[in-house]
Amino acid sequence: MTLWRQQLTKSLHQTRNTPESRYFQLATCDANGLPQCRTVVFRGMTDDHALEVISDTRTSKYLEMSQQPDVQVCWYFAKTREQYRFTATADIITSSDDAKRVASHWQKLSDAGKKQFLWGEPDTVRDPTLPLVVDGDFSNVPAHFCLLSLTVKAVDYLNLRGNPQLREKHAIGANGEWLTTSVIP
Ligand SMILES: Cc1cc2nc3c(=O)[nH]c(=O)nc-3n(C[C@H](O)[C@H](O)[C@H](O)COP(=O)(O)O)c2cc1C
Repeated sequence: MTLWRQQLTKSLHQTRNTPESRYFQLATCDANGLPQCRTVVFRGMTDDHALEVISDTRTSKYLEMSQQPDVQVCWYFAKTREQYRFTATADIITSSDDAKRVASHWQKLSDAGKKQFLWGEPDTVRDPTLPLVVDGDFSNVPAHFCLLSLTVKAVDYLNLRGNPQLREKHAIGANGEWLTTSVIP
């Protein structure tokens, strides 16, 4: 396993009792070249180093990543005082691309989680005096439910514990192997 992935596995293990350690910030670039950033939930990692996130094709990030798949992830583990900054490339996977994989993520969601995908078009105006109505069936994967697969291309790791702090950069070398460089924090 690559060095950074071993470290990330350890960070996830050490923070397994704090649910907020599964949240990270995902930054995209919009059509005007402006940065857009939001919090998402880590749902797993593939063998080829892709972070998995579930999302909705009706949100702005979908269009942004469709047009510009280069993204950055910033993930801070408060308990262990570690920051990972991942340079990644986004693939958007819907049921029509891989029904089995997308369905397995849908099935893992609680009913409350599924509801969030069934109460209408995100970012459209609503009447705040009326309750949101769930439209759809939990047993069917909505067409707009998608998986974001963020393949990590480079890692900037900072550990604030210790004096001096530790900063390491991980990048893929000419032969496809991961190389690690220690740098001044
Ligand atoms: C703690 C937390 C976790 C979130 N997790 C997700 C997530 O996993 N996927 C997602 O699409 N949005 C998630 N959101 C909502 C996004 O941050 C964002 O508000 C929404 O997706 C619309 O983003 P966009 O308009 O930039 O596309 C989460 C928000 C918070 C506060």
